Amino acid sequence: MAHVLVTGGAGYIGSHACKALKQAGFTPVVYDNLVTGWKDAVKFGPFEQGDLNDRVRLDQVFAKYQPTAVMHFAALSQVGEAMSQPGRYWANNVGGSLNLIEASVAAGVTDFVFSSTCATYGEHDNVVLDENTPQLPLNAYGASKRAVEDILTDFEAAHGLLSVVFRYFNVAGADPEAEVGEFHRPETHLVPLVLDAIDGKHDSLTIFGTDYDTPDGTCIRDYVHVCDLVDAHVLGLKWLQDGKGSRVFNLGTGTGFSVREVMDKAAVVTGKDVPCNTGARRAGDCTKLVSGSTRAASELGWEPRRSTLETMIHDAWKWHKTGHYEA
Ligand code: UFG
Repeated sequence: MAHVLVTGGAGYIGSHACKALKQAGFTPVVYDNLVTGWKDAVKFGPFEQGDLNDRVRLDQVFAKYQPTAVMHFAALSQVGEAMSQPGRYWANNVGGSLNLIEASVAAGVTDFVFSSTCATYGEHDNVVLDENTPQLPLNAYGASKRAVEDILTDFEAAHGLLSVVFRYFNVAGADPEAEVGEFHRPETHLVPLVLDAIDGKHDSLTIFGTDYDTPDGTCIRDYVHVCDLVDAHVLGLKWLQDGKGSRVFNLGTGTGFSVREVMDKAAVVTGKDVPCNTGARRAGDCTKLVSGSTRAASELGWEPRRSTLETMIHDAWKWHKTGHYEA
């Protein structure tokens, strides 16, 4: 079976991608430094511990497995942290990705799938966010991902490296079989924090800002189920293997939900109240991020199957109650 190198394969999205790749007949080789990932999440193929900035280690792993493609998830991904520690984002997300891209080219890999973000778009009032929307990121996280997109463009021109770039909206949910799921330490994402508040793992959820220009004053995001998201990655890999060339795709459902709507749905799904309080806006947050593109559906044939808010929270709640990784 063809090997696919999966950087960040011990993390939330990467681990789900490994399951999807294995189900599609590939062998996912996880390359992860375990700074934010979990060894217990590596269940679907071999594990090689290493850092993106360690070129010698990367070259060893490429030589050992001779992957035909790379799926690159490994990144720091917290907007708040990116505001206070931008240097880490440039060094890890940009420097590390450049190193990986150079190692990929040196190893003769031509197919590269990259995990980018709608945070590259920044704030656009009343604009439908599609792949042609100008990328004006508000934070170093989005800026670092946009920079890697630029690197990929240059490496295609110079070295023929082909890439599928996915700009994610907000990823939520978990494997319905709860083999893998979302587990960050510290946790900063809305859905797991809502579930933590519901079962008393912390006192209450703080809503970051209630004075946004939205119907209920809280931020609006486009939530997509992690299993649907990784299905798109497998389709993206096949797209490249079929010789269809480099392409950028938004991955979102086109429907936005406010922070309060997420909390209300979590209360319905779990049958429990969400203890909450209101706080100040979080630096770097956009008012509204909702995809306005159908390109992934029309060109890749992507059909989200689990991305209703109810199913995402249901699957996340199942994982929350049954799943965990050891440190
Ligand atoms: N929020 C709260 N309280 C919390 C946590 C979050 O009110 O305790 C709010 C945020 O302010 C935001 C929304 O819930 O309005 C979603 O926040 P998340 O932290 O879950 O997600 P972000 O939108 O900040 O960022 C996520 C990923 C990024 C990705 C981005 C794209 O972390 O990697 O989605 O929108 F780029």
